Amino acid sequence: MTSPNSPFSGKRALVTGGSRGIGAAIVRRLAADGAQVALTYSASPDAAAAVVREIEANGGSALAIKADSGDVAQLQVAVNKAAEQMGGLDILVNNAGVMVFAPFDEMTATDFDRAINVNVRGMYFAAQAAARHMQPGGRIINIGSNTAVKSTVAGSSVYTLSKTAVAGMTRALAHDLGPRGITINNVQPGPTVTDMNPADGPRAAWILAQLPVGRMGDAAEIAGLVSYLAGPQSGYMTGASLTMDGGMST
Ligand SMILES: NC(=O)c1ccc[n+]([C@@H]2O[C@H](COP(=O)([O-])OP(=O)(O)OC[C@H]3O[C@@H](n4cnc5c(N)ncnc54)[C@H](OP(=O)(O)O)[C@@H]3O)[C@@H](O)[C@H]2O)c1
Repeated sequence: MTSPNSPFSGKRALVTGGSRGIGAAIVRRLAADGAQVALTYSASPDAAAAVVREIEANGGSALAIKADSGDVAQLQVAVNKAAEQMGGLDILVNNAGVMVFAPFDEMTATDFDRAINVNVRGMYFAAQAAARHMQPGGRIINIGSNTAVKSTVAGSSVYTLSKTAVAGMTRALAHDLGPRGITINNVQPGPTVTDMNPADGPRAAWILAQLPVGRMGDAAEIAGLVSYLAGPQSGYMTGASLTMDGGMST
């Protein structure tokens, strides 16, 4: 249950890809912090509806909007709808992302384009659409990956280049958005237990061996960093990429 004293009381947030995994954890955290939250989904309407029901059962407010992040027009409609329904927009979390993994010789242009469309193009144009609704104090948080810092395995080139683009985009857009009073930062998770990266997946043993802390991350831990970046205390931070990966890239 939120109260007028909740840290994000009165704030309106949109989380792309909020139906599952890290995105759903971010929706839960921002709602628990007192924000009204809208989330997008593309393929998992039941999961999206379940997140909304959970938020509402806890006394919060949430709204699910179907929008494929690979389609800029759908994203723009979703951002505008979220802002209209919530009466404005203060926080955008660009979380929706796809993992594309294949040996170099087998990578297809279709998979390359899908990764770029969702992981880069979608984030860029969602930020553009969201910033148009924001007042000074607005917050944009991208979800990149620690692969932008350290490459550890063959087959990850396209995912890695997409997430490295997210870090570059974040740095450069800080210059566009700073004069408007809007910050933009990039959270770079390491292996975090979700459908994309299950704790018992085929690469789990290899991943654990790369992690100094000896465990994979919990989506709620990533959501905690996002909450900090979405709040008032992070106002002097922009253009930054913050890696939370159990020490994997150190
Ligand atoms: N898990 C990790 O180890 C890890 C590590 C580093 C970075 N990340 C990044 O963290 C973010 C979330 O990853 P995750 O592990 O939570 O992934 P996940 O479990 O696969 O969940 C992905 C979420 O994104 C949504 N999504 C996927 N494609 C979409 C599209 N085209 N349009 C709209 N929504 C879409 C999914 O919704 P639908 O099912 O409704 O389509 C789902 O809610 C991604 O950007 C990922 O690259 C994850």
